[in-house]
Amino acid sequence: MSMRPLSLALLLIAPALLQAAAPTLHEALVAVREDRAGDAGVARALQGLAKAHGTPLYVYDQAHIRGQVKALKAAFAPRFQRLRLLYALKANTNPAIVGLLRSEGLGAEVVSLGEIEGALRSGHAGPEIMFTSSSKSPAELRRAVALGAVLNVDSMDELGQVQAEALRQKKEARISFRVNPGVDPHTIHQINTGIAESKFGLHLQDGIAFRAYEKAKAMPGIRVEGVHCHIGSQITETEGYALTARKMMGFVKELKDRLGLRLAFVDLGGGLGIPYKDGQEVMSPEDLARTLEPIWKEGVAAAGYEPTLWLEPGRFFVGGAGFLLARVNTVKQTPVKTFVNVDAGFNTLMRPILYQAYHRVRVLGRSADPVTVDIAGDVCETGDILAEARTLPRASAGDLLTILDTGAYGFSMASEYNSRPMPAEVLVDGDTARVIRRRGSFGDVFRNTAR
Ligand SMILES: Cc1ncc(COP(=O)(O)O)c(C=O)c1O
Repeated sequence: MSMRPLSLALLLIAPALLQAAAPTLHEALVAVREDRAGDAGVARALQGLAKAHGTPLYVYDQAHIRGQVKALKAAFAPRFQRLRLLYALKANTNPAIVGLLRSEGLGAEVVSLGEIEGALRSGHAGPEIMFTSSSKSPAELRRAVALGAVLNVDSMDELGQVQAEALRQKKEARISFRVNPGVDPHTIHQINTGIAESKFGLHLQDGIAFRAYEKAKAMPGIRVEGVHCHIGSQITETEGYALTARKMMGFVKELKDRLGLRLAFVDLGGGLGIPYKDGQEVMSPEDLARTLEPIWKEGVAAAGYEPTLWLEPGRFFVGGAGFLLARVNTVKQTPVKTFVNVDAGFNTLMRPILYQAYHRVRVLGRSADPVTVDIAGDVCETGDILAEARTLPRASAGDLLTILDTGAYGFSMASEYNSRPMPAEVLVDGDTARVIRRRGSFGDVFRNTAR
């Protein structure tokens, strides 16, 4: 008899308990990352997003982005007296993301007129922008000089063009040179930029970079502010950075000793890698800061002054924040493989076909009956495989998948190939999801065309 009131009370509070246990959208994304996508509550949360906004859908976790900024600052700020962080817009150009990083105090590193426009629309002032490209058009030079952005000059030819533009505008152009340090950071060939045969930068080798500074120093209309390098992307070891920093600090000393040049900044680029696989070990910001600190301090002591250290990561801030939701159209068994055909393809996420990049895939709300499958895209190309030979819980038509770590070089590399409109993007903050880009339409696909 005495059990009765207790059971009644349990019955009454059980729904409330269950509700309290429902994860927020942020918690659901964390759970997916932690391989708990099979959990019914987690699946429900993300199925709700897919229902509200359609698929394919890019979902970004704001808390992850803020956490990455915090981690980088925590590692570097105590060790480097003068530190400036920039965000490389090419990783994800959505103004909501760029604005979020700006609100964390980051500057903007851009590579085109479009990205300059993106930085301005996100609230950046011209002088907060660093413009890097190995092939800048006259219109790009004109805009960057007018805005007071730092032009990261890539050739002697460009230096002459920048000067002509500055004199035409009766301005001083703020410049740095992109230096090619000749360092191999051991990453994917296509994103390896610091090796000698790369198209980027003025080589330190043979004194080419030195001669550029010598010339620029004496040029009216040119204000030399810094030196820059970027040795590649998705770098997971500290060694390449250490070699580069040593070369760059040696160059800083050489510029001071031989030309009397004191630079305002030394930009060591971006490139910090993130783990794309479960259990993958990559260098942490702490590892990198600890490696660079003694090299920097030694360089500063040798040069006799301290420039500001600039870093300009893209992927590190936003890569892990992105989850691409895609729906299963069909499952097909062939004599050799099982294909899970989804409603996203290399038009949505290009990294797998472009770099043979690996992205984790999770099936939402399923945890049983593992099968080895290829996740195939909906583009009519044989190579359109988003993930190969993955052992995943059995999925069927209508199920939702999420592809992890798609916040960087995901949407920003997407296209309308096969006349498929661009996907929508939402930004998750706690339990709210804000649409930060509407899904594209057929009107968008055929805009500016004529019959
Ligand atoms: C000059 C420059 N800076 C920064 C970046 C950002 O690289 P990541 O996203 O790997 O940090 C890139 C990427 O290609 C780049 O070319």
